[in-house]
Amino acid sequence: MVYYIVTLFPDLIPPHFSTGVYQRAQEQKLIEYRCVALRDFATDNRRTCDDEPYGPGRGMIISPEPLGRALDSVNATKRFTVYPTPAGQPLNSKLLQELSTHAEIVFICGRYEGIDQRIIDSYVDQEISIGNYVISSGELATLVIIDGISRLIPGVINVESLQEESFERNLLEYPHYTRPAVWRGQRVPDILLSGHHAKIQQWRLQQRQKKTLHVRKDMID
Ligand code: ADE
Repeated sequence: MVYYIVTLFPDLIPPHFSTGVYQRAQEQKLIEYRCVALRDFATDNRRTCDDEPYGPGRGMIISPEPLGRALDSVNATKRFTVYPTPAGQPLNSKLLQELSTHAEIVFICGRYEGIDQRIIDSYVDQEISIGNYVISSGELATLVIIDGISRLIPGVINVESLQEESFERNLLEYPHYTRPAVWRGQRVPDILLSGHHAKIQQWRLQQRQKKTLHVRKDMID
């Protein structure tokens, strides 16, 4: 998978890829990323990339001129292109699965009030929202989506961890414990110390059902 990330703030991207599983995944050529610095495509001395909106309203909009050139530099019309925005389709594990089947994805990181609609009309295949709230950084929304996709790419993380995860089989995860068996007076549930694998699996399933009913009843409905 190759990620092309068009951004006003390219410095925000590399730290995410420089740790843990994602660093290994790059060494193994399972994932790659290329940052496209939007300001490099501005033409004035101040490298301006935004402008006021037409019509009443506050805030600035990312201009189509530099953004269009940046997208052309990575042949975005020929690649699957995603624009993370609160106005997009809600992100969920099914959508992540679909995204993980592409060989290359271009991400457009928004800022300010957003990007010119004509860019969306000309280049964007999918607008995606990471939740019903607004954040300032399209880069963070992009990294959330990239993180969710990358771990589904075969070889990036091990298969067993994927299988039991939250949202697989529509239940949230069971609680996890590690040593010590007693921490500040709180004991690990006896069942986990019993060594009885079948009973432990049954307990975990019950815990998943209980937790899902408690915090995400909508998933059971
Ligand atoms: N940019 C700002 N808020 C966002 C959200 N909720 N989802 C995707 N992109 C965003």
